[in-house]
Amino acid sequence: MYTFSIKPAERAVISMLDLQGREINYLRVSITDKCNLRCRYCMPEGVDLLPMSDLLTLEEIRAVCRQASLLGIDRIKITGGEPLVRRGVIELVAMLRELPGIRQITMTTNGVLLPKYLPDLILAGLDGINISLDTLDREKYIRITGRDHLNQVMEGLELALASGIRVKMNSVLMKGTNDREWLDLISMARNKKMDVRIIEMMPIGFGKAYESVSNRDLLLLMKEHFPDIREDNRIHGNGPAVYYQIPGWMGSIGLISPVHGKFCDSCNRIRMSAIGDLKPCLCYAPVANIRDLLRSRGEEAVAEILKKVISEKPEAHCFSKVEGITEEKQMISIGG
Ligand code: 5AD
Ligand code: SF4
Repeated sequence: MYTFSIKPAERAVISMLDLQGREINYLRVSITDKCNLRCRYCMPEGVDLLPMSDLLTLEEIRAVCRQASLLGIDRIKITGGEPLVRRGVIELVAMLRELPGIRQITMTTNGVLLPKYLPDLILAGLDGINISLDTLDREKYIRITGRDHLNQVMEGLELALASGIRVKMNSVLMKGTNDREWLDLISMARNKKMDVRIIEMMPIGFGKAYESVSNRDLLLLMKEHFPDIREDNRIHGNGPAVYYQIPGWMGSIGLISPVHGKFCDSCNRIRMSAIGDLKPCLCYAPVANIRDLLRSRGEEAVAEILKKVISEKPEAHCFSKVEGITEEKQMISIGG
């Protein structure tokens, strides 16, 4: 079923392999389904929100992360909704930082609240930040997100860069909305020490209503524009992005292609939603819920479920065959 092996490192580390032999060391934790934006492909106006009592408490999230760390998870990404709207998020980062097995804590945020929270996040021990931003145009930003917050995001992004923390920008292109802006978006990496990643729209939740722009086509455009562009094989993070470097640019361009390219062979992650649903693959419905078990039987019972979820992680996603997708939840409750 699952394998434990001790890696020959300075510090003995437990690692956990799934049935495909992939080492699963990365947990994405959604801490809220709430958000201060209303991106139309993720959480348009009017979406129902969960009652707070359904969510794991911060202590419960720590308990799951502690058990996961004992199984070989050593990096955690905090996601949402928008994680910075959850009260106690700074304390959570600090609590996770205390877990001995966790070597990296990063966060995906829409950036709106970064001017307010960045200094405390860094003090609490956050290692890196991914800022979701689909346009640099104020009117278009309002059209996509339903809110007029582009200035705060840009301020947060500059503050993050100035602080020295690792920063990435994530953009999703939609045909007819912001796809023509690809050059402006990737150009953010020209003079900033920041990778820009273009993520293909996945047919999940409200994203189903949008046509995804193929990163294969985008790469052709990039090559036309920048004949010197070359693949950048340095490791940039935990993710499935393929990176490209344009000579003279400070940051790299990452293409994340869940729809038009498969990266499942090297997938190293599992996900937990804010209510404790465990998901070994974004494409499929959750395979277990941990909340009630944790409340009734305590932290140790969680370890067994985690082992099962990791070992039974599906071989591959099915975004190219929409009828195979069993996930019916919205992205806002999964955490991207
Ligand atoms: N496909 C791809 N990315 C999505 N996100 C939300 N919904 C989708 C989707 N259907 C992204 C957001 C943000 C992150 C939290 O998830 O753009 O970068
Ligand atoms: Fe909020 Fe991100 Fe979803 Fe936009 S994409 S509604 S910022 S969680």
